[in-house]
Amino acid sequence: MTGDVRAGGAKNSALPLMFACLLTDEPCRLSGVPDVADIRTAVRLLEKLGARVESPAAGEFLIDCSAVDQWEAPYELVRTMRASFLVLGPLLARFGRARVSAPGGCAIGSRPVDMHIAAISRLGAEIVQDHGYVEALSDGLRGGHVILPMPSVGATENALMAASLAAGATRIENAAREPEIVDLAEALAGMGAQISGAGSSLIEIEGVGRLTGMNREVVADRIVAGTYLIAGAISGGDVLVEGARSEHLGSLLEALEAAGCRLSEEKGAVRLAMDGPPRAVSVATAPYPGFPTDLQAQFMALMCLADGTSNIDERIFENRFMHVQELVRMGASIRSAGRRAIVTGQRALSGAPVMATDLRASVCLLLAGLAAEGTTEVLRVYHLDRGYEHIEAKLAALGADVRREKM
Ligand code: UD1
Repeated sequence: MTGDVRAGGAKNSALPLMFACLLTDEPCRLSGVPDVADIRTAVRLLEKLGARVESPAAGEFLIDCSAVDQWEAPYELVRTMRASFLVLGPLLARFGRARVSAPGGCAIGSRPVDMHIAAISRLGAEIVQDHGYVEALSDGLRGGHVILPMPSVGATENALMAASLAAGATRIENAAREPEIVDLAEALAGMGAQISGAGSSLIEIEGVGRLTGMNREVVADRIVAGTYLIAGAISGGDVLVEGARSEHLGSLLEALEAAGCRLSEEKGAVRLAMDGPPRAVSVATAPYPGFPTDLQAQFMALMCLADGTSNIDERIFENRFMHVQELVRMGASIRSAGRRAIVTGQRALSGAPVMATDLRASVCLLLAGLAAEGTTEVLRVYHLDRGYEHIEAKLAALGADVRREKM
C-alpha cells in the first residue's frame, strides 16, 4: 500500500471530553470528533440525561448540558460502551448524585470498576451498589488523596473530573499518563479547573466552585495512526500517516524500527517505508508510555509474517488474545499460554473467513487479510465501526482491495 492517510481525532479522548461537558451549564464546542459508533453511543447517553447535542458540521459537536435533569446511565448504554461509566464523576460533582450501571464483563476480560468507585469514595461520596447499578450520592464533594493500585485510564479520568468541582485539594497518585489524560486535563483547565501534573504519575487538583464552557479540538488518535503504520509495514508499502505524533507513539515506533521499518517524521505526520519481510520483535504491553494494549493485536498480525519468533505479552487485560485462534485459521503459527503468545513468522498467510471479537481484534484480522494470499472475509465487522472511521475507504485509497458487504 502506498499513499497518504489521515488519523482523525481520538475516540478515547473525545469520549471523556464529551462527558466533561456535564460539569458545566455553559455550552461547549468540540471539533475533530471521529465519526464512529462509540461517539454515537455517547450522544445517546448525553441526550438521555437531558443534554442538547447538535452536530453542525462533520466532526463538530455543540453540547449544552444546562437542562440535564436525569442522573442515570442505563445498562443498555453502559453495556454497549464501557466508557459510559465516565459520567459517574461529572454527574456526581455537579448534581450530587449519579446512578450508573456496572459495565459487566466484556470480550477482553472482566474489567471491573472498583478503582473508579474507590477513587470517587475518597472524594467523600457515599456509594451504594445494588441491582447491577452503582449509585453515588454526596452533599458536596471534598478533595481527597486517591492512590490508584494501577494506573487505570478511566479511573484517573473519573477522579480528575470529579475533583475539579470538589472543595479543596485532591492528589491522584499512580495516575495514568496517557496523552488522552493530558487532553482531558487541558480541556478542564480551559473550563477553569486548576490542575497540575497531568501526564505524570502525580496529578494535583485544586477544586473550583464552577466550570465554564469549552471550545476544544480533540487530539489525534495515536491508536488509529499506529494501526495505519502497521498496515504500511504488513503490506511492504510506503505510507504517510497524517496526524501521527511520534511523541505519542514512542514504543510502537521503536518496535517497528527494530522490525526493519524505515521511519521518518514529517510535519504533523510519520512516514513508514518497508521493503522485505519484518524481523521478529518481542513486545510486552504496559501502561503509557509502554507498548499500548490497543496495538497488541495489530502488531501480532505483523509478527505472523516476520522472520523469526517473537513473544507478545499482554499485561493489561487478562483475555486479550481472542484474535490468536482466528490468525491461526489463516495459517499463522502462534502458541499462547496465559498472557504470552509465541509467534513464529511464516512466509505467507492464507485468506479465510474469520470472526471479529472486539474492536482491535477486528482490525488485526483486516490487516492480516490485506497481507494474506486469497480472500479474507471478516465477520462481525461492526466491532470495527466502534473505533475506526471510514476504514475501508481509507485502506482502499492506499491501494488495498477491501470492501464492505451489507449483510
Ligand atoms: C482505556 C481505553 C482502552 C484501553 C485501556 C488501556 C478508553 C475509552 N478506553 O480503557 O481503549 O485499552 O484504557 O490502555 O479510553 N481495572 C480494574 N479496576 C478498575 C479499572 C480498571 O481492575 O476500576 C483494570 C482493567 O480491568 C484492566 C486495567 O485495569 O485490566 C486497565 O484498565 P483501564 O486503564 O481502566 O482501561 P479503560 O479506562 O477501561
